[in-house]
Amino acid sequence: MQIVGHRGAAGLAPENTLFAVRTALDLGVSRIEIDIRQVDNELIVIHDETVNRTTNGKGDIHELGFKRIRRLDAGKGERIPCLAEVLKAAYPKAEVNIEIKDTSCVELLVTQLEVLEQSLPGIMKHTMVSSFLHDQLEKIRTLLPRLRRAPLVRDVQLHQIRRFAALQPCSLNIHRRYVTPEIVNEAARYGMKTFVYTVNKRSQGRKLHHMGVFGIITDRPDIFLDEGFF
Ligand code: G3P
Ligand code: CA
Repeated sequence: MQIVGHRGAAGLAPENTLFAVRTALDLGVSRIEIDIRQVDNELIVIHDETVNRTTNGKGDIHELGFKRIRRLDAGKGERIPCLAEVLKAAYPKAEVNIEIKDTSCVELLVTQLEVLEQSLPGIMKHTMVSSFLHDQLEKIRTLLPRLRRAPLVRDVQLHQIRRFAALQPCSLNIHRRYVTPEIVNEAARYGMKTFVYTVNKRSQGRKLHHMGVFGIITDRPDIFLDEGFF
């Protein structure tokens, strides 16, 4: 089962920072998950639409603008990183699951990945996108079909899973409370692996491992990468 660092490794370091990403990489994760939003003409790595919860500042990211956001402390002296900084830090050690958090990201994301690919030729294969905004994944499928896509869902009914097939997704990423063996099997029928978020207890991880999920997304990769887990 793959262990994916959530927001880098949010349980061990300030979330969505380079410090969190490096912490996860040092622990040996095969993949990290991060959140992106567009501000001005930049893609920044942040979960919320405001900086209130995760930095020493206050305000809406769009009102603050990129330059002011970059001056904030996101914890332990870390800055809010740009997407390219995270991708470069992770490559080629781990894949990156970029969660698209707003509807304005896609065009810039495609441009940035194409530019980055010039200097880091393997990077596209090490990158995938996920989102609750399934129309944004459809846009990606049209603009950059070789970039892997994963619909994010909280809850899903069995009969709804086939609807995702049109997206030609690599995985279904689902909340831990709603995943069942039937969902895992149905997703597999349509070519999707199953990733489950956010799993922070060993007992939950073991149950999901037995259920046959492909990966878990966790704030605490250390507790699953420890020798005693499997
Ligand atoms: O990718 C799974 C998970 O990150 C989705 O929820 O709120 O942590 O972005 P959230
Ligand atoms: Ca996320």
